[in-house]
Amino acid sequence: MQKKEPIIGIDLGTTNSCAAYVEDSGNVKLIPYKGGDYTIPSIFAIDDKGNELIGYEAKRQWQLNPRNTIYGAKRLVGRGFKSDIVDSMKKVVAYQMRPGKKNEVVLDVGKKEFSLQEISAKLLNKIRDVASNYLKTPIKRAVVTVPAYFNDRQRQSVKDAGKLIDLEVVRIINEPTAAALAYGVGKGLNEKVVIYDLGGGTFDVSIIEIRDRVFEVKATGGDIFLGGIDFDNAIIHHVLKDFASKTGIDLATDPVAMQRIKDLAERTKIDLSAREEVPFNIPFITMTAQGQPLNIEMKFTRKILEMLTSHLIDKSLQIVARVLVDAGLSTKEVDEVMLVGGQTRMPIVQDRLTKFFGKPPSKGVHPDEAVAIGAALYAHSLQDDTNLRIQLLDVIPMAIGLEKAGGMFHTVFPRNAPIPNAKQLLATTSMDNQTELAMRIYQGDHEMVAQNDLLGEFTFSGIRADKRGMVQVEITFDVSVEGILTMRARDPATGREMRTTVRVTQS
Ligand SMILES: Nc1ncnc2c1ncn2[C@@H]1O[C@H](COP(=O)(O)OP(=O)(O)OP(=O)(O)O)[C@@H](O)[C@H]1O
Ligand SMILES: [Mg+2]
Repeated sequence: MQKKEPIIGIDLGTTNSCAAYVEDSGNVKLIPYKGGDYTIPSIFAIDDKGNELIGYEAKRQWQLNPRNTIYGAKRLVGRGFKSDIVDSMKKVVAYQMRPGKKNEVVLDVGKKEFSLQEISAKLLNKIRDVASNYLKTPIKRAVVTVPAYFNDRQRQSVKDAGKLIDLEVVRIINEPTAAALAYGVGKGLNEKVVIYDLGGGTFDVSIIEIRDRVFEVKATGGDIFLGGIDFDNAIIHHVLKDFASKTGIDLATDPVAMQRIKDLAERTKIDLSAREEVPFNIPFITMTAQGQPLNIEMKFTRKILEMLTSHLIDKSLQIVARVLVDAGLSTKEVDEVMLVGGQTRMPIVQDRLTKFFGKPPSKGVHPDEAVAIGAALYAHSLQDDTNLRIQLLDVIPMAIGLEKAGGMFHTVFPRNAPIPNAKQLLATTSMDNQTELAMRIYQGDHEMVAQNDLLGEFTFSGIRADKRGMVQVEITFDVSVEGILTMRARDPATGREMRTTVRVTQS
């Protein structure tokens, strides 16, 4: 009998990626990389000889080649060049970004140019290659996880990245949902769990009701700009300020110095999860105008780090509080709080959650591996010959709707609407002999469309010519199980489908 083609699960993280699969025996296995690590840095680089480096190889040369080393790109996915997010990223990364023809972000790496999708594709391809080698079979299909708080366009972008390398992304699932699967599959549970996922780049929180094999997301929330990178940046800013006050020199303009500070900042942060005090010393960071070498000589205590970053934890807890309200639950009704993501190893994060929920978080899942394991379990449940049955009921993280008069947002699906989902809306022509109708669709939680993300401009054409108001257009909004929107329109009088085109300009 021919061996079935496996579908693997991939956690494409901002800082680290991880893959897993389910063996024929039903056991879940993480896919090891060279040296036995289970995670691979989500870093892409091109060295001065033009070689492409991905993962550990890219990380190793990062300090010496910061301009041609791309990291944290997941934060930019689905964003236009002219956006606050790109502006704030430009301040902290050494690589170059510029606008493309459609206001998309273009990255220049080692004399070549890349789109964000191409960077995601490079990472996915590396993970797929490692898995193919390890499993000794070509991998063509995967379940890939995304932050629950990703919008339609960011989700679509991950599917498109798969297409670039002939990897079929059979399903996109949300990272916290995947973590809940890792925790709950096969245990016959009946619980309400909170998944608090604070990773490198993004924060997600979901409240999930587990009833044996049914995983129902009650509400979700997050911030795709809140993660470990922001904790590192808090240390970096502190170091820069201290150095400037002592020497009058601004190190922010020196990419190699910045890279050394960034590296040590992350290491210091991690060390402070286990220790109370850590020295922060970098010799020969720069020189005075007279050619005198200067060093950074500081120390950090856990208390200082906590002070510098408490606003970040506050922000996450505000989101948790909102999600509880959305789910209609009190903290007491939550059975377990699960920690996912490397940044949850910071002791104060655990302390604050303990205070918030009145009980300590559970150690029920591995913070780095749960997402990939959940993705693999779900992948296995989609396999033709599976005996693993999982029912996932997820929600959209932000409202989807259209622009009304005066730039107001008209909600079609509220946030936390279950998916898949479909809604219909009747529109009519406003001019005689109008044959086209255009509609801008947005996603977000603000009343004004300008504050939300533009998903695209949909045009329905081939409308029957008649006096204004005489022809109706029935528009159907479909949100797939993956949280991706498609639209179609028909003439309810004739039943004829109209042609739909969508134009996406990056906002
Ligand atoms: N012991 C530790 N204490 C504090 N922070 C830690 C510790 N270990 C790892 N981290 C931080 O966790 C972050 C990485 O977490 P993780 O690997 O879960 O992120 P990711 O999955 O790549 O990102 P995301 O889920 O946001 O896309 C990094 O910022 C790292 O510095
Ligand atoms: Mg993660």
